[in-house]
Formats: sequence, C-alpha cells, structure tokens
Amino acid sequence: MSSRTPNATLAPYSGAVGHYTSSKRRDPVKRLWEEPVTRGLLSKALRYVGPLETIRILDVGSGAGEGVNFLLAMEENQSWHSVEGRYRYCGLDLDESLLDTARVLHRRRPEVSFVQADMREYIPDEPYDLYFSSGVPYSHLTPRELTDVLSRIFTAVRRNRTRSVVVVDVLGRYSIEWADRWDRQRWDYTMSFFQGGPKEEAPAPTVPMTFWDAWGLRRVIDEACAQAGRPYEEVSFHDRSIMVGRHTQTREFNPDIPPYRLLVNRLERGDDTVEPMDLRFPYLPTGTAPDRVLNFFDAFQEQWQALLETDFGRLPEGIAASMLACGLRRLEHSMAPGLGVGHSLTALVHLDGREPARNTR
Ligand SMILES: C[S@@+](CC[C@H](N)C(=O)[O-])C[C@H]1O[C@@H](n2cnc3c(N)ncnc32)[C@H](O)[C@@H]1O
Repeated sequence: MSSRTPNATLAPYSGAVGHYTSSKRRDPVKRLWEEPVTRGLLSKALRYVGPLETIRILDVGSGAGEGVNFLLAMEENQSWHSVEGRYRYCGLDLDESLLDTARVLHRRRPEVSFVQADMREYIPDEPYDLYFSSGVPYSHLTPRELTDVLSRIFTAVRRNRTRSVVVVDVLGRYSIEWADRWDRQRWDYTMSFFQGGPKEEAPAPTVPMTFWDAWGLRRVIDEACAQAGRPYEEVSFHDRSIMVGRHTQTREFNPDIPPYRLLVNRLERGDDTVEPMDLRFPYLPTGTAPDRVLNFFDAFQEQWQALLETDFGRLPEGIAASMLACGLRRLEHSMAPGLGVGHSLTALVHLDGREPARNTR
C-alpha cells in the first residue's frame, strides 16, 4: 500500500517511542484496570464478526502495534482461541517513527503488516471484519473529520458486504482528570505522560484533541451511517479509567485531585502504607455536565467512600491493600455507565453490510 506522506511524524508522538517500548508503561493499573476492559470489548467484537477462517483486522491509529499485543494476550489467556494465521492484521498510522518501532517489534509475525497514512485521507478499500482502535486516535480529529472518516469506513463495510465491528476509541469529556474543562469539547491536550519523569527538560508536547460524551459520539455515528446509507445493527458505549487515568498521576489539568493512579498502583502492589483516605473522592463542579453524569458520580462516590472506610481487620502484610485495590477496581468496572466519564470512551458499532436475505416464498 502506498504511503501518503513519507517520513511523517506527528509532533506530539515524536518522543513517544520510548514510552511505548518502556516496561514501566504496563503498570498494575494498565494491566488490571485498563487492559481487561479493552480485551472485553475486543472479545465482544470478535464474537459478532466470527466464526471466520481468517479475521481481517485494521487497527486505525495503531501506533507501535498495540492491537497486536491485545490479540496475543487474548490468545494467551484463552479468551480467544486462535491458531496461527487465524487473523490478518494491518496497522494504519500517520507517525513513521512509531510504525518503524511497530515493524521491529512484530517482525516475526507474517500475519501482521503496517501502512503509513493519514486516516483523514485514506481508508483502505479492502474488506475488514474489525476496524479496531485503542489509545484514543480518533480524538485527534475534529467532529467534522471524525464524521467523514467513519462515513468512509461504514461505506467500505457496505461496499464489501462484510459483517463488521468498528471500535471508536476517544477521550472522555467528563473525566475527573480535567473537570474544569468539561464545558469545552476541543482543547489543547498535553502528552506529559510520554515524558520520562522529573529529569525531562523539554516541554511536554501539546496537541488539540476532541473530548466526547456518549450523546455527542452517537450523533456523529448516526450522521456517518446516514452518509454511508447503512444503519448500524447495534451501538454500545464503554468507559475506561474513571478514577485512574494517566493524568490523575500528572495532575496536569486538575491539580486538586489526589494522585489516584500512583496510589492505586501502590495498593495493587500490596503497599499497606497507603492511607485509604488519601484516595477520597474529589470535589467535582456542577452545572457543566448533564444530570445523568452528575447522578452517576453521586452514586459512584458513595460506594467509593464506603470502600475506603472498610475495616479489613487484622490481615497478613499487604493483603488489606490488595483487597482494597481489588474492591475499588471491581467497583469501577461494574459501575462504568458508558457516558464519557472516564479517561476514554469507546463505541462499538456493529454493522451488517451484507445484502438483506431474499424472501424465498
Ligand atoms: C495515543 S496513540 C495510540 C496508539 C495505539 N493505538 C495504542 O493503543 O497504543 C494515537 C495514535 O493515533 C495516531 N494518529 C493521530 N492522528 C492520525 C491520523 N490522522 N491518521 C492516522 N493516525 C493518526 C498517532 O500517530 C498515534 O500513533
């Protein structure tokens, strides 16, 4: 496939290769709180498209090929029984340096390939069963651009007559990480978590990003479907990282919240010296979010606080910390309402592009 802009590097990602290849990136929060949510969505998507001899996957905004890692992890924990060659994966990304890393990391996998392209200009014509995305690539686009890209993907599904799932991963509008900015949909976002730590001297890269709630994202999906001339069969919305997004650690946009991710990582590692009340629920502004969002936070806050006040009694070293971490994690996973209240919001769009069955009577 052709590459539209040779050697292109998306400025905010110029320092990201180190982040994506660092072993520190997979902290306990990522492994236990975040990745299971994405794997669950991937399972749901694969159940819808499968069983197929070969599942064709396009990872839109693939970066260093994180989608391959999800597929491998699902094979490993047997949530997806796969044999070699059961899927064909193509990662599409704008950033040449991340693609170079991806090609090195996955060089031994003949079923994996990468293409450099700007999704706003190029969506492949070939059929895909799954249009995956992770790490909020679609938030780089303006609402208009997102409608156009989705409309092109939905049109490809219709033209190729596939039964496909499109995973649309974006930043959540009503995350506690940026509570003072809930009234704005697009603003300059800092990629400070790409930096190595306090020794880093260069300023963190900034880029305009669009933040989404479920209502706004549904409108865009509806409009893209109308443009493509094909309604979806089903659409569902899912929140990820309500309390532990990476910016709860940097506190770049909301310095008033406790460093939840840091504290939860310590709890998950069995550190009994964490004081539960340091994880108290933050003050949130009212008036800039819909009632359903505020009602969710009210109910969630009550249960979160109750867990922090639980007396675990006398337990061996590290066990109370792990139990508290497990309780908080289960609470987040079970209560996530799919409204855009987490670091990211993911829509799963089920499309059946095949001809309607003929009436044989
Ligand atoms: C935060 S990264 C996520 C990478 C990967 N999916 C992951 O989960 O780690 C977002 C990716 O979107 C890519 N991206 C942003 N705008 C794009 C565009 N217009 N076309 C293609 N890729 C784009 C960036 O280069 C970057 O690799």
